[in-house]
Amino acid sequence: MSEAYAKAWRDSINQPEHFWSQAAQAVDWMSPPARSFDEAEGWYPGGTLNTCHNCVDRHVAAGRGGVTALAYDSPVTGVVHRYSYAELLDEVGRVAAMLAALGVAKGDRVVLYMPMIPQTVFAMLACARLGAVHSVVFGGFAPLELAKRIDDASPTLLLTASCGIEGARTIPYKPLVDEALRLAHHQVERVVLFQRDTGPVADISSPRDLDWDTLRAATHSDPAPAPVEVASSDPLYILYTSGTTGTPKGVVRDNGGHAVALAWSMANIYDIGAGDVFWAASDVGWVVGHSYIVYAPLLVGATTVLFEGKPIGTPDPGTFWRTIDRHGVKTFFTAPTAIRAVRKEDPDATFLKEIGTGQCRTIFLAGERADPDTIGWLEDKSGLPVIDHWWQTELGWPALASCVALGDLRRKRGSAGFPVPGYEFAVVDEGGHPVETGQSGAVVIRAPLAPGVFRTLWNNHAGYQKNFATFPGWYETGDAGFIDDEGFVHIMGRTDDIINVAGHRLSTGQMEQIVASVDGVAEGAVIGADDAIKGMIPVAFVVARAGVESEQALHDAVIKAVRSELGAVAALKTCYVVPALPKTRSGKILRNLLRKIVNGEAVAIPPTIDDPAVPDMLLARVRAHAEV
Ligand code: COA
Ligand code: AMP
Repeated sequence: MSEAYAKAWRDSINQPEHFWSQAAQAVDWMSPPARSFDEAEGWYPGGTLNTCHNCVDRHVAAGRGGVTALAYDSPVTGVVHRYSYAELLDEVGRVAAMLAALGVAKGDRVVLYMPMIPQTVFAMLACARLGAVHSVVFGGFAPLELAKRIDDASPTLLLTASCGIEGARTIPYKPLVDEALRLAHHQVERVVLFQRDTGPVADISSPRDLDWDTLRAATHSDPAPAPVEVASSDPLYILYTSGTTGTPKGVVRDNGGHAVALAWSMANIYDIGAGDVFWAASDVGWVVGHSYIVYAPLLVGATTVLFEGKPIGTPDPGTFWRTIDRHGVKTFFTAPTAIRAVRKEDPDATFLKEIGTGQCRTIFLAGERADPDTIGWLEDKSGLPVIDHWWQTELGWPALASCVALGDLRRKRGSAGFPVPGYEFAVVDEGGHPVETGQSGAVVIRAPLAPGVFRTLWNNHAGYQKNFATFPGWYETGDAGFIDDEGFVHIMGRTDDIINVAGHRLSTGQMEQIVASVDGVAEGAVIGADDAIKGMIPVAFVVARAGVESEQALHDAVIKAVRSELGAVAALKTCYVVPALPKTRSGKILRNLLRKIVNGEAVAIPPTIDDPAVPDMLLARVRAHAEV
């Protein structure tokens, strides 16, 4: 263990006030905070700041305006464009002027349904500049999901673009936005659409719609709004994530704790400072995109890469290595699923050998458990340390990692590492008692949680408090795992119905609700099955109502319903129409048994089962399907 890591962790736990007040010096405050933490007021009470100023203006003011801030790399359109910090300041100022002209002010919500283009980053920072609260919705979600988020966030404005480009496919966004606004109860005053050069021209004939470029031209002589002073605890953004019900949870991120935590993580986990190049190959619609494409690299004056492509097919499985090499990436962050996809297409790593990894020093993985085999392959082929690390939307930054920048390179394949300074972990049984070393249990983190971590859910503080209800004094992560005899923490899966599909967090409970509402379905269950590329994929089992004539038609209707109500990102492609589901005598569906059947694992028939013939029948169905 490195002494620097051990000391940092001890100090963060034993003297949190001092530790986090030191860390706060990495941020420019308009009024410095009175102290680091207050249970009622949150992180940095009394402190005021502006996150956009910290990400952009201060670097220009420090004479670093010529340094590249944002490297946009779009293999799907063939565009590579670099924006210096001075140019970024100008672009953000223009978008802030546009938003201000439409009346957007401190505290207003702005929903973004946008692809991976620079305008999305400009808009997020412009909201931060005005003290407005952005809520970015991932493009793979269907209109109904967008509508739910619009209703919860009640934005004054929605920003979108004409299309997203998904590999070889162009997805027009405007029809999805129009449909979402039709479904939403909340009425958005304005929709501003960025018309991309590529793809079909969007229809913006409604009086509610405005063209981005026209608005920009109309406001071009307006002065760029100055960064608005906000309280440390004021919200910077709302990011919705899957909970255990169909209603998404609006994770609220503050300004002050977030800025401090992210800046600290760059210097102490990822080894990134001013002038370094960092690339998180994620999407701005996810927390990784918020934290590590947009805010963290810019907070520390680094260069961030905004990559509008996929690990494979844009154009080939060499695209990651080419992008790393082209931009001089020092630290690279991706999801294990992306590496599995690359490995499948290029098992001998021919592209990697040919292109190399340039100046890259470390690869970080997160989003789902990194299987030892994938880590082994990547370390072997790249010759670089591959660090699995763990966090969640709620936390906003890593809670388990090897703090490479503190000299801690310990790693064990299958483990997500050690508690990051600021986080104290335990693994407990159902009664909240710590389990023995090596035993599995619920993974919990001691409260109060570190800076940057959520302190409420939008419109749902009671929902937030539930996270601390099962194990008082501790935050229930929803994950199961164990701590081994060397202190490595292993995260093995969820204790609830959440699954991770290609690094995307989804609720099988929500899918079940959709499936149950399909005409012709008497009852259904959705489980997460193992998948060689995506880690997990959802699989549905449904029982048809009496009178349903076509099983195929019911199958198609189920797949279509999940795709159109939740979105393509759910990736539900398999639905078994079966005569019965396995249930206990009290009527509880045995989802674990379904999971084992689909995964081809040994199935022990529980004594409580209502009909012992059902598992064999299901097994036969699943085997027959596999043989087709
Ligand atoms: N807008 C619209 N649709 C989207 C979308 C977006 N932003 N993102 C994904 N989709 C669609 C895809 O087109 C696909 O639709 P299809 O079923 O019609 O083919 C579906 O949602 C599932 O997408 P995806 O999960 O990306 O699967 P894929 O088969 O297209 O690609 C991988 C597989 C592994 C290459 C891809 O999932 C990947 O790059 N994963 C990494 C994810 C990641 O980085 N996560 C970050 C979390 S830290
Ligand atoms: P999200 O909020 O979308 O980032 O998803 C968070 C969830 O993803 C966690 O609660 C875990 O279940 C899973 N997860 C993320 N990173 C890891 C990891 N490194 N190892 C295991 N599970 C992970």
